[in-house]
Amino acid sequence: MISLQKPIRKAVFPVAGLGTRFLPATKAMPKEMLPVVDRPVIQHVVDEARAAGIEHFIFVTGRNKGVIEDHFDSQFELERTLAERGKKNELDLLSRDLPDPGQTSFTRQQAPLGLGHAVWCAREIVGNEPFALLLPDMLHHGDPPCLAEMMTSYAEHGGNHVAVSPVPEDQTHLYGIVGVEDSRAKVSAITSMVEKPPRGTAPSNLHISGRYILQPEIFGLLERQERGAGGEIQLTDAMIKLGEELGQPFFAVRFDGEIYDCGSKIGFLLANVAYALARDDLGPSLKSELKRLL
Ligand code: UTP
Repeated sequence: MISLQKPIRKAVFPVAGLGTRFLPATKAMPKEMLPVVDRPVIQHVVDEARAAGIEHFIFVTGRNKGVIEDHFDSQFELERTLAERGKKNELDLLSRDLPDPGQTSFTRQQAPLGLGHAVWCAREIVGNEPFALLLPDMLHHGDPPCLAEMMTSYAEHGGNHVAVSPVPEDQTHLYGIVGVEDSRAKVSAITSMVEKPPRGTAPSNLHISGRYILQPEIFGLLERQERGAGGEIQLTDAMIKLGEELGQPFFAVRFDGEIYDCGSKIGFLLANVAYALARDDLGPSLKSELKRLL
């Protein structure tokens, strides 16, 4: 199928949050660098973006996040030592993950004013084209990968897309929630959106799970710097305006795999178990060790 939509070449990764739910582990180490098995959380998410065809990776960082930039750079001394010791597999592993020169950009959010503000900080690098946005602490585990599914839907429908998945009814007040035309469809037009709806008022139980395809007009709305829930500049509020004021369409793509919130301790632990169980080299022995522990 030939798509008439403007291609999505760039992805934004907001990594400027404080990670307070994971203290003290995140006092000196960004939560995005915590390992899920043997890859940092952020690497899993960059892998997902790359698998969806993304060519340019934009990181919105903050204080204490320099190590993320180092992770996506080459490490001359380490590579030379590995080469001298004949560690070919390890070298291949590092070079496979290394972005090509010029494929990454880093910008700073000087104060953690909210996700909407972090996204706005990427405006100059994104420019006037649609882009993907991936929240790095939300790992989407499944085949096909989440962003690739969204790209397929975008090629057909254009506009803006968010990935959604159901949460228990008594937890909808904790998330951004969407109402949709057809809650059973894989892709459905969004009819309403609300950030953290008061209990009993949510339009559905479908929460926005941390993957977006957005049109660049979102930046003009974020520019207003309006505060929303929790006194933060909320992305969901700007998305609502993009739909209501500018009349842009939004679509929900239901993700049918597992989602792990690695910003929470339980989500992070579960992700480690699930990703390790899915691997041929670790799965069988982890399974028998877990059985023994339980
Ligand atoms: P979270 O609220 O989950 O992240 O934001 P946090 O603030 O780091 O975590 P806690 O609640 O204190 O433990 C979701 C995503 O948005 C980014 C975070 O880095 C995370 O990827 N974010 C959030 C920013 O980049 N800047 C902000 O001001 C807020």
